[in-house]
Amino acid sequence: MLELAQTRIVLGLTGGIACYKSAELLRRLQDHGAQVDVVMTEAATHFITPTTMQALSGRPVWVDAWDARAPNSMAHITLTRGATAVLIVPASTDFMAKLAHGMADDLLSTLCVARGSVPLLIAPAMNHEMWTHPATQRNASQLRADGVVLLGPGEGEQACGETGSGRMLEPEQILRALIAHFQPKLLAGRRVLITAGPTSEPIDPVRVLTNRSSGKMGYAVARAAAEAGARVELVSGPTCLDTPDGVQRIDVHTAAQMHHAVMERADQADIFIAIAAVADWAIAQPSDQKMKKHADGQAPKLDFVLNPDILAEVARLPQGPWCVGFAAETEKLHEHAQAKRRRKDIPLLVGNLVQNTMNADQTELVLFDDAGIHPMSRQPKLAAARALMRAIAERLPDSSQPV
Ligand code: C5P
Repeated sequence: MLELAQTRIVLGLTGGIACYKSAELLRRLQDHGAQVDVVMTEAATHFITPTTMQALSGRPVWVDAWDARAPNSMAHITLTRGATAVLIVPASTDFMAKLAHGMADDLLSTLCVARGSVPLLIAPAMNHEMWTHPATQRNASQLRADGVVLLGPGEGEQACGETGSGRMLEPEQILRALIAHFQPKLLAGRRVLITAGPTSEPIDPVRVLTNRSSGKMGYAVARAAAEAGARVELVSGPTCLDTPDGVQRIDVHTAAQMHHAVMERADQADIFIAIAAVADWAIAQPSDQKMKKHADGQAPKLDFVLNPDILAEVARLPQGPWCVGFAAETEKLHEHAQAKRRRKDIPLLVGNLVQNTMNADQTELVLFDDAGIHPMSRQPKLAAARALMRAIAERLPDSSQPV
């Protein structure tokens, strides 16, 4: 998925050892279709050469405010007009201080002041003492108040050998944050509760009853909801997926645990999206010890109990959230999905065919609501999840407006 097609990003580098990660970021931006103009401060050139950045970007690299290559001798204007964003990676302590004061004593700081309405995103990178210094914190607050988006910093081991906050985010995180920045904030301020993944019902301490759900669709929806500005809680069965940025994840195994985790939170949510493939039955009495093969060669008999229907229960809450269900069917999608929507009494149900979606990176969704049936095209799960956010935002009644 080319997330940055038709964009032009001004990538600014300031003096810091994290400059070596900017080369990787440049490649990732290009992988997503962005055209990248690199601008470096003089200090940045001590950490990585303009030649490296020029070879990777395939475009001239700019350092000097007096560079005569700019036809009008105004590189700060030429570079920013029509740019999609200015992205400063890494942003040093000194550069943040300059930005906070509107100083313009080199090309990069000048173009930040000259950029007009072009969004400015910066990824601070510095020693933890420098980051926590009151002056830096003051500058960070001022920059946020001025509309600058601060990406990170994170915590952890630092190049100087010390540990703490001030560590630059990884290139992949910066890329995702940039992409998220450009998603419409359709669910700003909403609290969204999501279930995802399979559940896993113990038979004994080593055996479980589970299903083939990968969790990919639920995680894509959690990411899309966070990108749309929502506060997202993701109650997840066992998966091997990374938690989407900005999402609070609660890990569970069994349907009973998922039920408990959801019911604890449902009252505070504005929207509930049930995507988990919840086991319909649990083993009535899981064995405390590993079950042994019968000497007589007989297979064991397992007794089941019904699991709670989490979605139906949330949908019945008097002051509950606006509910979205999912239906993965192997046949008769429309018939089964419509019946499920009626049975659970929910405003929106998203259907898909198991053979088109399970474990795949693409999916073909069909939305079912009071107005009828709305098929969507086959597309990557993240694109489908973003389309679902639009569909939800369009349908939300005013009463679920955030307070
Ligand atoms: O009940 P059924 O599996 O047919 O419906 C699927 C929808 O209901 C999904 O949204 C799923 O997450 C939700 N569900 C649930 N609790 C269950 C079973 C399904 O929340 N025990």
